[in-house]
This record gives sequence, structure tokens and C-alpha cells, in this order.
Amino acid sequence: MKTITVSASRSYCVHIGAGLLSSLGKETAALCKPGKAAILSDSNVWPLYGKIASESLEKAGFETVNFVFPAGEASKTSAVYLNVLNFLAENHITRSDCVIALGGGVVGDMAGFVSATFLRGVPYIQVPTTLLAAVDSSVGGKTAIDLPAGKNLVGAFYQPKLVLCDTDTLTTLPEDIFRDGCAEVIKYGVLYDPQLFAHLEERGLSFDREYVISRCVELKRDVVMEDEFDTGERMRLNLGHTFGHGIEAQSHFTVSHGKAVAMGMAIVSRAAATLGVCDPQVKDRILALIHLFGLPVKTHCPAPDIYRSALSDKKRSGGTVNLIIPERIGFCRIQPTPVETLQSFLEAGL
Ligand code: NAD
Ligand code: GLY
Repeated sequence: MKTITVSASRSYCVHIGAGLLSSLGKETAALCKPGKAAILSDSNVWPLYGKIASESLEKAGFETVNFVFPAGEASKTSAVYLNVLNFLAENHITRSDCVIALGGGVVGDMAGFVSATFLRGVPYIQVPTTLLAAVDSSVGGKTAIDLPAGKNLVGAFYQPKLVLCDTDTLTTLPEDIFRDGCAEVIKYGVLYDPQLFAHLEERGLSFDREYVISRCVELKRDVVMEDEFDTGERMRLNLGHTFGHGIEAQSHFTVSHGKAVAMGMAIVSRAAATLGVCDPQVKDRILALIHLFGLPVKTHCPAPDIYRSALSDKKRSGGTVNLIIPERIGFCRIQPTPVETLQSFLEAGL
């Protein structure tokens, strides 16, 4: 097992290793007084891991209750959010009880936002079961739900008490969803770590799970500790997301987040090489790695449509969009780009 400590507004551990789910009760008991544990999960994850999680908590002296909502982004709504709050109230959950997020990023974001707001804050523990949640969403305290106007428009920064990542749970992930998480893993290599990038080039999809997840979490930890509230360095994690979000939204979410981010990284890499910001070999390595993981490097989405969506990027400030552009493997620059030149940048990368 590997343990990484995140010291943000709250300090907490991220445990990563095989078979950890059965120690959920013991780990929770070390942080919260035995009382009630409300497990939030989705309709795919609960049948697979609900029993192990609840038995472990009960063995450690917790009374468990569970709320399971339909799997998928379509559940990250205000309606489900209110249902979960009502469920917690009906079950008399107090601030000395705890919430457990058992699932991928959708469950984690929902459970985190519920925990941030119910009774003005109850403790919660992230138990990520997708690769994306393990390397990204379970760490760093961003919690959110969606509005009809866009994804993640309502949320809070609220750090968990613990992240418990059992790498065995990733074995039941559908391959496509595992590959989606790989886009975020590649992103960390491009942003910060040539060695991680080289490991992925060498091993492809059979990369060392514990090493790669731990390294990504360490990198994210460093970013969160420097910029918990997303005013500077943290925006670098947006690599591939500005145009990726555009592609995702324009496809009405039929293109997955991971594939859209892969295409977004390919676009900025090609544009960077065309505009002389990075060596063409850097661009070639990034494109080859994305391809190696079975992720797309080209989009059929028309440039004006991607451009329009990119303008509503959350990271936009006034008349500029902060593009994250690879210079070399392991370093990307933040380039404030006037909206007037965004379209020509995009076209250079398509
Ligand atoms: P997800 O939670 O919808 O999970 C993807 C699918 O995999 C779902 O159908 C789920 O039921 C299934 N699943 C999960 N674990 C499984 C397992 N072990 N075995 C079998 N099936 C399993 O999606 P995701 O990709 O994990 O997360 C995407 C969400 O994360 C988005 O809502 C996004 O906005 C959010 N996100 C948040 C942050 C953050 O910092 N808070 C960062 C990145 C993404
Ligand atoms: N996933 C982006 C962030 O945590 O800032």
C-alpha cells in the first residue's frame, strides 16, 4: 500500500493499494467516532462493492445506511442532490456521522457536495472505483453538481477526511471507461513528469497500476497544496479540457470526457508544434501515446462549434481564455489567449 498525505485546508491521507476496500471500516473508525455511515453509490458500483464496504463498516462498529442512484452523469442533478439530502435528514445523520462516496467521479462529486452542504458540512470519505476518480476527482476537494446550463456549475471546495483507493476495484471497469481515465493519466505525464510519460510509452495499457496512480496523486497533491482554490497553478490541470469540453458538449455528451480530453490534448499539441511553441517530436510523442491507449487524436466536430463552446470555458477571464500548451514532455505553459485569436489557434491544431 502507498500512502500520500495532502495538506490543504484539511490534511488527509490517500491510501492506494490492492484489497483496501475490506479495511474501509477500520480506516473510518480511526477518523470518525463509530456512529452512522451513509454510503452513497451508483447502480453499477453498489451491486459489485456495496456488500464489502458495508460489512467492513459494520464490523468496525458503524451502523450503515445507503443511497444508490442510477449510474451516469445524468444523475449529477439538483433533483438527485435534494433526494440525497432528504435521505440523510430522514436517517438523522449528524455532524459526528460520516458519508462514504463509493464510486466514480459522479458519485464522488455528488457525495462531496452533499457533505459540504448538509448541516453546513459533515465528514466524508472518498472510495474511488474508476481510474479517473482515483487519479483526479477523489483528490483535491472539488465537489459539484450540474445545471441544465452546464456541467459542474454548482459546487464547493470541500476536502475529504480520507481517500481509500482499492486498485482491485478497477478490474471490473468496462475497458472503454478505463481508457477514458487513461487520458487524465497521460495528461499528468505531459504536464509534469517525463518519467511517468516514458513508463506509459513503454507499458501501454499494462502500466503498473499502483505506481501510476500514486504518481498521479502525488502530482495532483502538489498542485492542490500550491493552489487549492484554483486561482493559478491548478488551471494547468485543464490541459486538453478547453477544446475537449467543447467537443464533449457539441456531441451532446455522446463523446466521453476522456476521449474529448484526448482530442483536446492532440489539438493543442499540434497547434503548439505548428506555431513553433514545441518541437514536432514532442507533438509526435504525445499523439503516439494517446493513440497507443486507443484514444482518438482527431475530431469530426467542426471548428466553429468547438470554438463557440470553448468561449464558455469556466477558466475564461474577460476577453481571454487561458490555454495550456505543451512546450516539452513534463512542462506546459499557461498562455492567456485573446478570444479573437482562439479560433486561428484551434484551426492550427485540427
Ligand atoms: P462515473 O462516475 O460516471 O463512472 C463511469 C462509469 O463506470 C459509471 O457507469 C459507473 O457506474 C461505472 N463504474 C464505476 N466504477 C466501476 C467499477 N469499479 N466497476 C464497474 N463499473 C464501474 O464517471 P467517472 O469517469 O469516474 O467521473 C466523471 C465525473 O467526474 C464527471 O462528472 C466529472 O465532472 C467529474 N470530475 C470531477 C473532478 C473533480 O476534481 N472533482 C475531476 C475530474 C472529473
Ligand atoms: N480536475 C481538475 C482539478 O481538480 O482542478
